[in-house]
Parts: sequence; C-alpha cells; structure tokens
Amino acid sequence: MGILEIKLSQNQYSILIKRDILEDIGTEIRKLYKNNKIAVITDSNVEALYGKKLLKSLEKHDFQTKIITIKPGESSKSLDTAKNIYEELLDFEITRGDMIVALGGGVVGDIVGFVASTLLRGIPFIQIPTSLLAQIDSSVGGKVAVNLPRGKNLVGSFYHPQAVFIDPELLRTLDKRFLYDGMAEVIKYGCIKDKALFEKLMTIETEEELLRNMEEIILNCCKIKRDIVERDEKDHGERMLLNFGHTIGHAIEKYFAYKKYTHGEAVAIGMYNMTKKSEEMGLTEKGTAKSIREVIIKYNLPYEMPDTNIDKLTEAVGLDKKNKGKTLNIILLKKIGDSFIKKIDREDIGEYIRD
Ligand code: GLY
Repeated sequence: MGILEIKLSQNQYSILIKRDILEDIGTEIRKLYKNNKIAVITDSNVEALYGKKLLKSLEKHDFQTKIITIKPGESSKSLDTAKNIYEELLDFEITRGDMIVALGGGVVGDIVGFVASTLLRGIPFIQIPTSLLAQIDSSVGGKVAVNLPRGKNLVGSFYHPQAVFIDPELLRTLDKRFLYDGMAEVIKYGCIKDKALFEKLMTIETEEELLRNMEEIILNCCKIKRDIVERDEKDHGERMLLNFGHTIGHAIEKYFAYKKYTHGEAVAIGMYNMTKKSEEMGLTEKGTAKSIREVIIKYNLPYEMPDTNIDKLTEAVGLDKKNKGKTLNIILLKKIGDSFIKKIDREDIGEYIRD
C-alpha cells in the first residue's frame, strides 16, 4: 500500500494505491465526504466489470447513487458527450455540495474532470483510474479536457480531484495491448527521472511478475509525477519533461489518424528515435538508445519509425498544441534517469525524425 500527499498552491489531496481498494471504496470515500449524493460516471466496458462492485460498496455507506455510462473510446471525449452528462447530472439534482466519481481510463477521467470543473462552476470529484495509463499519468496532475474535431485536448483546464484511489488489481482485466500501452509511460518515467526503475523493468521476466510488482511500480511513477507537478503545476517548465517521446509520438498518432498505434506505442517509437538522434549528435551518453530499445521490445512495444511521408509527419509535429511559435521544446536524455528540455527552431525537428 502507498499513500502520496500532493500539495499545490490551492489544493492538497491524497493518492492512495492499494490492492483491492475497490472492494471497500465506500469506507475510503466516507472518510473524506460527509454528504450523501454521488454520481458515478464510467464507460460501458468498465461498468460491466466493476460498476456493481462500486455501487454495492457505496450503498453500504448509505450514499445515494446514480450511474452515468458513456460509450467507450476517444470519440466520447467530446463536447456533445459532456452536454449529455451535464443533463443527466442536473436531472439527478446535483449541487456543489455533492460528489462525482470518475471510474475508468484516461477518456473517462479527462471528460469527467472537465464536466466536474465546469458544471455549476465546479463540483468536487474523485478519480478511480482503471487503466495503467490513467493510474500513472492522466489521473494525477489535474489536467482535464475534451477534444475538438480539429485536435485533442483543446478545451480544458487544471482541476484537481479530492482524491485518487488506485487499485492495481483492476489491471488484471485490462486488454494486454493496453497494459503494454501504459508500460510505455512507465518506461518514460524511468528514462527521465529514475534509473533504478528503468533497471528494475529490465529484470522482470513474466507478466505475472509484472502484475505482482505493479503496486510498487505505480507508486514510483506517481511519486515522480507528484514531485514534478508540485514544482510546476501549470506546465511552464519542468512538467514538460513528462513529454519525453511525445513530440514524435503525437505526430505519429495523428499521422495515422489515431488508428494504427496506441498512445504508448507511438511514445515508445518517439523515445527510441529521439534518443538515437540525440546520441548521434553527442547530446546523450552512448548506449542509451540501445537500452531503451531493449526495454521497449521487452514490453511488446514498437521502436521502429513507421514508413511515412516525413514532410507530413514533420507538419504534424508543427500542429502539436503545446508547441506554438518559432521554437519547439523537445525533451532529451543526458543518460537514463537524467533528462533536459532543449529549445530548437521548429524547422529543425526534421533532423530528429529523418534517417
Ligand atoms: N501527461 C503529461 C502531464 O500531465 O503533464
């Protein structure tokens, strides 16, 4: 079990990581919420697996509940879905004294956080992330958003939950491709800040061993993210390190219309290729890219740059919302566990993509 306190200028809350915490989640929520009304928002896949368990535990503590279910998948992270959720919450007569629970992966966490931050100018909410990606990244740090047809996460804000409850046992039902998708972000934490974590990942032999170690892995990742977010909540400096592999990764995802690669798969390609280039330029310790490739292969992730029109891919980098203006911030490694931000001219990004 692990508890992390996250202390920000305006908020403070805990991230509780514990096997089977979902079984008794009502007790945990009762400790921090004294009123009765709770709206649980989830998607239909997660509802089928865990909806009843969650409601049963809440009802044991006399909470008055309503479950709102959205369609699984990125297409639900829209203003249309947000509007439907607003209507259902208002039908439930929710007030600013009540609570919303987000039960699901990154899509659910992001849209529910967005709805919670905007309805009635803000309703408290709790995150119960169910995918590895959500447990180590998107549920921590307060970024909430929906997509617009022209791009991802273009409408959003920073809005922190009252608590994050992470149950590593939920990962046992996660589709294997998405377990490894999340592992790309675990590898990223090792690369940017934690050599020991990176080395630990190299020693794990089987999926069962990975799942047995998951509580500790999640705790390590959340600690790194917590420390970075505490120092740079609004993403103006150090928090950008979390984008290691993401500049190329986002461009690859976009180039293939979000169909061919998962987020983690695209980030894995980005981490390896960026490092291969920075090593050739003498900015990164020799052998680093090879170590990254080994760990990426171990976790069933791709590392090779796909066959693409390089000009179009470079153009996709230019459309990344985080990188407006003449310069671009890219994240590079000095060596495993040690990363830095490098400002480059936008047109020079091709040097990191072309063979
Ligand atoms: N996922 C990157 C961040 O939260 O800043």
